[in-house]
Amino acid sequence: MAMRRGWFILLLVAAMGHAESVSSPDGRITVAVTLNDAGAPRYSVTFGEIAVVSDSALGLSFADAPDLVSGFEIASAETRSADSTWEQPWGERRTVRDHYNELALTLAAASPERELVIRIRAHDDGVGLRYEVPEQPAYEALVVTDELTEFRMPSDARAWWIPGRGWNRYEFHYTESVVTDLTLAHTPATFRLADGVHVSLHEAALVDYPAYVLEQRGFGALKTNLTPWSNGDLARVNAPFATPWRTIHLAADATGLINSDLLLNLNAPNALGDVSWVRPGKYVGIWWEMHLDIATWGSGDRHGATTENAKRYIDFAANHGFDGVLVEGWNTGWDGDWTANGSVFSFTEASEDFDIEAVAGYALERGVRLIGHHETSGHVSNYESQLDDALDLYERLGVTQIKTGYVANGGDLQVEDDSGELRREWHDGQFAVGHFIRVLEAAAKRGISINTHEPVKDTGLRRTYPNWITREGARGQEYNAAWAEPNALNHNATLVYTRFLSGPMDFTPGIFDLMHQGSDATRRVQSTLAHQLALYVVFYSPVQMAADLPQNYLARPEAFQFIKDVPADWEESIAIAGSVGEYLVQTRRERAGDDWFLGGITDGTAREVRVSLGFLSPDTRYEAQLYADGADAHWQSAPYEMALSTREVTAGETLSLRMAPGGGVAVRFRRLPAGDE
Ligand code: NOJ
Ligand code: CA
Repeated sequence: MAMRRGWFILLLVAAMGHAESVSSPDGRITVAVTLNDAGAPRYSVTFGEIAVVSDSALGLSFADAPDLVSGFEIASAETRSADSTWEQPWGERRTVRDHYNELALTLAAASPERELVIRIRAHDDGVGLRYEVPEQPAYEALVVTDELTEFRMPSDARAWWIPGRGWNRYEFHYTESVVTDLTLAHTPATFRLADGVHVSLHEAALVDYPAYVLEQRGFGALKTNLTPWSNGDLARVNAPFATPWRTIHLAADATGLINSDLLLNLNAPNALGDVSWVRPGKYVGIWWEMHLDIATWGSGDRHGATTENAKRYIDFAANHGFDGVLVEGWNTGWDGDWTANGSVFSFTEASEDFDIEAVAGYALERGVRLIGHHETSGHVSNYESQLDDALDLYERLGVTQIKTGYVANGGDLQVEDDSGELRREWHDGQFAVGHFIRVLEAAAKRGISINTHEPVKDTGLRRTYPNWITREGARGQEYNAAWAEPNALNHNATLVYTRFLSGPMDFTPGIFDLMHQGSDATRRVQSTLAHQLALYVVFYSPVQMAADLPQNYLARPEAFQFIKDVPADWEESIAIAGSVGEYLVQTRRERAGDDWFLGGITDGTAREVRVSLGFLSPDTRYEAQLYADGADAHWQSAPYEMALSTREVTAGETLSLRMAPGGGVAVRFRRLPAGDE
């Protein structure tokens, strides 16, 4: 039956000149696929009248099987529509609508006989496209030697990107350039076309396949370049298989990219069942003091992870309403150059001055949880060999969240194969993609959530594995410490339109001592205090750190109040105004509550932004608690100058938000009870 229907459609398609297309439900986005004279599929994407991707290649080639590149006819073209809503256990919004039109093209070639399915979903906020290789003779134990997918962008598009395949993984400053100057770039990469249309290229549901980076092939023709295994294989697959979705987010303006659920919608639903044990929250930890070089991860006089210091942090957390206390450097293996010591870390043996049982127990007594830490320094085999024991220990101690780390240069994850030989793999190759998921699954069995540092990029897998609670994967706050050149003034206002489009980030906001090496030092945090507060709203993560030392919070109790009040889990989120690399105003409503929060950040330029409060509930009075840059505030000369004020507001009003150079603004809108005077 399906076969006969396929042939019928084939006739129809032949009559139409080998062109098939699918449009988004609102009709604005259209993806068209044609076969060229060689029977090779080509596709294009338009947004309204604008050509976003033109005449671009598709296809896969293999080492020991015939290529799925050309010689095709369209055997069938099936369309389908779907419209459903689903609920996130935690997230930027509770309910997500998944509404799309789909086209599944089956391409068939004769001699040798072979088939390839190209599945395309057109949503109102962008496109997902993936390959499906059906089970068929000669397509077992395949090695992919190339993926041809191209995105031919208009050559005058602006691009914001970080280098792909670099030594520092994803931890780079962003380059803003014309698209033709992009060489090799990670995704998500963001583009602005001449008419203001914004585009983000990325991928969704990266499972059992390598990540891709974008490779310039000339004049804005960007091609997928799959991250290889150490022996040069790109992907090792077995038909039937599907590749991750190649995604093209589209929006009429910059904030439209943020107000999108495309990635999550293209991921499979929760595979873990009841995940009520995955808990969003805020945490503090023995962390920043090592980055400031006040304390050390390794043993000795300045060891940070002592029982006593941990109890001090636990008391601070309990007194100020934090949920967790991270302790780094608690285990053996940190002495010497820990970045090169991956093979000697123990994940079960605590250092002598850290009584892990006592600390974990004390935390529970005080209503706080110890947050675990596993730094691997990239020696994945050493970690995998101890993984079960390490997770069992934390489970027994009541630990429900672990931060992992993979500090090693790009391409330098160490993996011993069965013969004991050491291979070196990429953080975003197929090996690492599998490793991160193995850790998640092992952790899920014990009710533990994972926050991965030096991870593979996020592709929305938190939908399938809700215990992948957050991750790093960008230049975070740590670069504002003692050991690095600080983040550029426009870095945060770039991250929100690039890295954050892929999912939550453990940026670790909230540094209050902005000039930790003195006011003349160049190594410092290049922002105002109000900007640090705003990051709790602007940067999405279901677990947010208050990264600074307790004493620095106690020294500024008024500003600290905002960190205590702001939640980490949301009912809804709306990006209101902004421009890539310049500024963003973001609002969010707390989960299961009526308070709204607003965060605004700017780059090195002062701005005044007028914001309509139409997002608030109608006919309701709110007390707006404003944490704004003071009149003379400036990230460099007067970063602490903050103007605190409160006023009553309603949805009909407009608020004028003034941000200083390097500044920001944070607002809590507290719903006032009806009738309250
Ligand atoms: C790098 C992580 O990003 C950082 O947060 C951590 O403190 C160090 N690795 C040590 O694990
Ligand atoms: Ca890092």
